[in-house]
Amino acid sequence: MQKVGVLVVSYGARAAAVIDALKRSEEYDVRVYVADKQRNPFNAERAEAHAVIPDLSVDTILKFAERHKDALDFGIVCPEGPIIEGVRDAIEERLKIPMICPKKEFALEGSKARQRLLLAKVAPEANPEFRIFRRSEFKSVAEVKEALWRFLDEIGDDVAVKPDRPAAGKGVGVFGEHFHNREQLFEHFLSIFETSDVVVEKKLEGEESSFQAFCDGRRLEPLPETRDYKRAFDGDFGPNTGGMGSYKDAGDLLPFMEPSDREKELALVEKIFKALQGDGRNEGLIGMPFYVAFMHTADGPKILEINSRPGDPEIQNILPVMRSDFVELCFRMLEGSLQKVECERRATVVTYAAPLTYGGYRTKYTGDSKVDLSGAYKLKEKYGDDIRIYPGAMELRDDGCTYALRSRAVCVVGIADDLRAAREISLDGIRNIDGPLWNRWDVAAEWHVEKSVEKMRRLRAAASTSTSASDAAGSAARRR
Ligand code: AMP
Ligand code: GLY
Repeated sequence: MQKVGVLVVSYGARAAAVIDALKRSEEYDVRVYVADKQRNPFNAERAEAHAVIPDLSVDTILKFAERHKDALDFGIVCPEGPIIEGVRDAIEERLKIPMICPKKEFALEGSKARQRLLLAKVAPEANPEFRIFRRSEFKSVAEVKEALWRFLDEIGDDVAVKPDRPAAGKGVGVFGEHFHNREQLFEHFLSIFETSDVVVEKKLEGEESSFQAFCDGRRLEPLPETRDYKRAFDGDFGPNTGGMGSYKDAGDLLPFMEPSDREKELALVEKIFKALQGDGRNEGLIGMPFYVAFMHTADGPKILEINSRPGDPEIQNILPVMRSDFVELCFRMLEGSLQKVECERRATVVTYAAPLTYGGYRTKYTGDSKVDLSGAYKLKEKYGDDIRIYPGAMELRDDGCTYALRSRAVCVVGIADDLRAAREISLDGIRNIDGPLWNRWDVAAEWHVEKSVEKMRRLRAAASTSTSASDAAGSAARRR
């Protein structure tokens, strides 16, 4: 087997899933060199070389890559921070190691304002009404408050308030959920505005899906749809998090989607791709430049945000059931010869377990943070490869034990022929983790999925009633 050296820039359980997919290649003998946020036990165990770089700064990643330059065939970057800071540009320029992630210029994730302005130009139908409040525009708090009030008078109070800069989904506040009147809304607004420009946009009613696609600069290869669980608590309450879990149904669609929803999504993402691609192949877009969070509304799919890297946990729904060899796929992205990505027709459910203070589950926890995953790993005897356990914000310490840090600690992927069975495996894994962690129990729960189906049915019915009513009014007017 051909030996291949891969630099993996890691943050979260997503990178463990990437490393797992690389190491499972049947065509290549892969050595991974991991630039990691912490000593992730899964990654450290499999790495040829492993460096802990807590701030994942481009300079330090570059130095690590330089030390292993001769062994590296390419690199792959999972978290957005280094992508936005230009890790690909730096490594390709200085070390000539080809990298899988967009170049700095194409990291749309860096600014939500930029995303809205781009969409206004190339796909306005995917934008809600919005306004950008730039810090440089206002001289006082009173001035910005007045401008915000004027905007709310125009579009109503039902809005989402978002930081321009990425905050891992966590800075976003939605009217009726995170604030209930204008004063509270403004409080949320100001907490962001102190350090960042703010985007205020109309609140969208619908169901969310995550669209992911690999890109070789010439074409996009879409992956099956997934559904992320952004809110902290069961029933979709609480603050936004990085994602407490996610599911993928057996086919490409989610239960609440129609084939035309997917076609519309594809058409929208293609428009964005074409706008950035320019003429011919654009190598700056290699990787996953458009992982798009969609809201399916009565008025078709709208874009909530565009990310420039794989979703965490959404890519954990895909990599374990990908038929295509992942290393081969990486080479194809780099060469510009990407082909259709084949996945098994199976459902996958990812549940994350997080430390007690994550998402505000507890305000304070001062106890031990030791986490023992051996009980979950033991389930491999029962489920074989249909269970995957990927540590995220956990570290292996010198005492040989593993500890939870401050973010989502570990995810369990359940794989089966349908969602119900996949969820059971995922939760079985979660139940067998020993440690002070908590999780959502309703990821892919039948009632939750049914609620999404019902909501879309209601929205579509209301939309078609209002279309037929306006058609009838139109023909009545024509008759007059
Ligand atoms: P974002 O980081 O922009 O994806 O936002 C995080 C979460 O906030 C999304 O997954 C949605 O649940 C919610 N959200 C963001 N924008 C809107 C919007 N315009 N309308 C309703 N909910 C939104
Ligand atoms: N699951 C949300 C994200 O990866 O941004």
